[in-house]
Amino acid sequence: MKKRILTGDRPTGKLHIGHYYGSIKNRVKLQHEYELFYLVADVQALTDNFDNPQKVRDNIYNVIKGNLACGIEPENVTCIIQSLIPQTAELTIFYANLVSIQKLGHNPTVKSEMAQKGMDESTPLGFFMYPVSQAADITIVEANLVPVGVDQAPMIEDTREIARKFNQIYGDTIVLPEALYGATHNLVGTDGNAKMSKSLNNCIYLDESEETLRKKIMSMRTDPKRIHATDSGETEGNPVFIYHDAFNPNLEEVEDLKSRYKVGTVGDVEVKEKLYIAVNEFLKPIREKYIEFDKNDDLIKQIAHDGTEKARKIAEETMKKVRAAMKIDY
Ligand code: TRP
Repeated sequence: MKKRILTGDRPTGKLHIGHYYGSIKNRVKLQHEYELFYLVADVQALTDNFDNPQKVRDNIYNVIKGNLACGIEPENVTCIIQSLIPQTAELTIFYANLVSIQKLGHNPTVKSEMAQKGMDESTPLGFFMYPVSQAADITIVEANLVPVGVDQAPMIEDTREIARKFNQIYGDTIVLPEALYGATHNLVGTDGNAKMSKSLNNCIYLDESEETLRKKIMSMRTDPKRIHATDSGETEGNPVFIYHDAFNPNLEEVEDLKSRYKVGTVGDVEVKEKLYIAVNEFLKPIREKYIEFDKNDDLIKQIAHDGTEKARKIAEETMKKVRAAMKIDY
């Protein structure tokens, strides 16, 4: 029996190459080795976008299309829309009894998100407790593994603690998930910011046109200390070389550009021209598929519907066990 993986995205924007490099690329590989479930986390997206439901609504299909365009195969992957599994909300309420406010307050990811969003004393309860709801997402489908980077690792720790406590009190019921480390990566933005993010306006989208792609790459940040093409430059931590490493399959060309950059015998323009060609080659099939899927909302709807239906059955089975364990199976 293949182990089951749950992975997911919050539908808050169109997907970009940071998503591809960070997680989708890995999912595409994992779909053949594991039973892969892909969650469109609209309920979680609403915890900090409750005042903008249209944004969440508009992006549900966008994230599914983005994943499919990158090579996620609907016959291998179960796509789930979170809000259509109301059993998760039920489990969240029971889990909320098993974790203290203090403990939740220590989750470093939630803490830094709260600081970033300036929530201070007015943090909505729904946002504060989204790790509890994520614990329910994971365990309700009895996932064995969850791919994580640094920011999602605390969610798995909280999940394991809640699941352990449930099993201790009510008897062995919940499958304990494990974090799959090394399965996600971070890609800097075109401006060199540590994160590619819509709000920072430093993204290259999966359906980016050739024209805008070119513009975005030609205006990318490089080594700020290098003024002339004849100056020696730093390739380490330099966004254009980070992208070359991530997307240019021609390793010889990348090595050549790096060594010339270091001694000052190549200009930024050549480095960027070659980067544009490489990223464009990479994006071409994805862009084409994305545009194809974009014309076929019915297909996306069907995929999401079928996947959600399958997950809902598993969720209801889990809840039957949970209710029996908690003696509320009247
Ligand atoms: N927290 C994830 C994110 O920020 C989304 C998510 C919600 C998720 N529920 C999940 C991921 C369950 C993996 C498993 O993108």
